[in-house]
Amino acid sequence: MIRELEIGDLAGCLDMAVSRDWGAEEHKWRLLFDVGTVFGYVEDHAVVGTLVSTSYEPGVVALSMMLVAESYERRGIGRALLSHALDHAGAGAVVYLSATPMGQPLYERLGFVKLLDETLHVGAWAAGHATGTTREATPDDLTAIAALDTAVFGADRFELVRRLPSFDERLRVIWRAGSVVGYGGAWMNIDTTYIGPVIAESFDDTCALIDDLAGPAPGRVRIDLTHDRAELRDWVTKRGLEPIADTWVMVHEGRTLPGDRARLWAPVMQALG
Ligand SMILES: CC(C)(COP(=O)(O)OP(=O)(O)OC[C@H]1O[C@@H](n2cnc3c(N)ncnc32)[C@H](O)[C@@H]1OP(=O)(O)O)[C@@H](O)C(=O)NCCC(=O)NCCS
Repeated sequence: MIRELEIGDLAGCLDMAVSRDWGAEEHKWRLLFDVGTVFGYVEDHAVVGTLVSTSYEPGVVALSMMLVAESYERRGIGRALLSHALDHAGAGAVVYLSATPMGQPLYERLGFVKLLDETLHVGAWAAGHATGTTREATPDDLTAIAALDTAVFGADRFELVRRLPSFDERLRVIWRAGSVVGYGGAWMNIDTTYIGPVIAESFDDTCALIDDLAGPAPGRVRIDLTHDRAELRDWVTKRGLEPIADTWVMVHEGRTLPGDRARLWAPVMQALG
């Protein structure tokens, strides 16, 4: 049976994620419960499948955390969850996701089309000096950050953006000529500092944001980049991050993602775009 999960189901979600080697990403799941709708496939009161749907007005939906417990695989649970989420999204929505190789066949069967290759880069950041281009965001910056985010993303992510100051370890902005022209965040996922989002109008601003976000990070740093960002992928590799896994950005029925994506260099996380 598919039902909407609540925060009380978090432990079941984490157990299943761990059983599939995804890690107990509690901080991330809590945000997803907050901003998204978590669908669960429940059998005998146990969560055996999950899929998170996060909607941004007007009509953009990011799907994530598609997981089915190993002992329940190949019974159509993944397909049922995905069909349910597509119905929930509605016919007019642009629905997209990042697909692991394991998920790709299922997504293709339900009408998702590959848009871009994407690679996860992980490693210890070779910190330089602070760039001086960015500064720490303050509560007063939030309205301007949200406006930039909406213009670039092409839908209203205010419910997400307003949570970033408490969710993130660092949130940095670039002001120029009286407006915010870039911003970026870094958040802790278990033991790894995840860099995202990164929104900027130039390659140099993007590097400045990433340097200032990753520089103070202890231990491992991760950023996920699509392959149309060849120069940036090269640059993060030189700073110490290795490509470790590949996914596909897929869009349902091959629709076009809105906004000005040229300025969206890295997602908040794959789950949220
Ligand atoms: C990817 C994943 C979600 C698929 O879940 P699932 O419940 O096994 O998916 P389904 O059962 O709906 O479909 C998978 C396969 O089972 C087949 N199947 C569905 N119902 C079936 C049934 N009653 N009997 C036999 N096979 C069946 C499907 O045709 C499909 O076959 P194919 O892969 O050979 O083409 C699951 O394997 C998983 O959690 N993987 C690890 C995490 C992951 O990578 N998730 C994707 C993130 S993007």
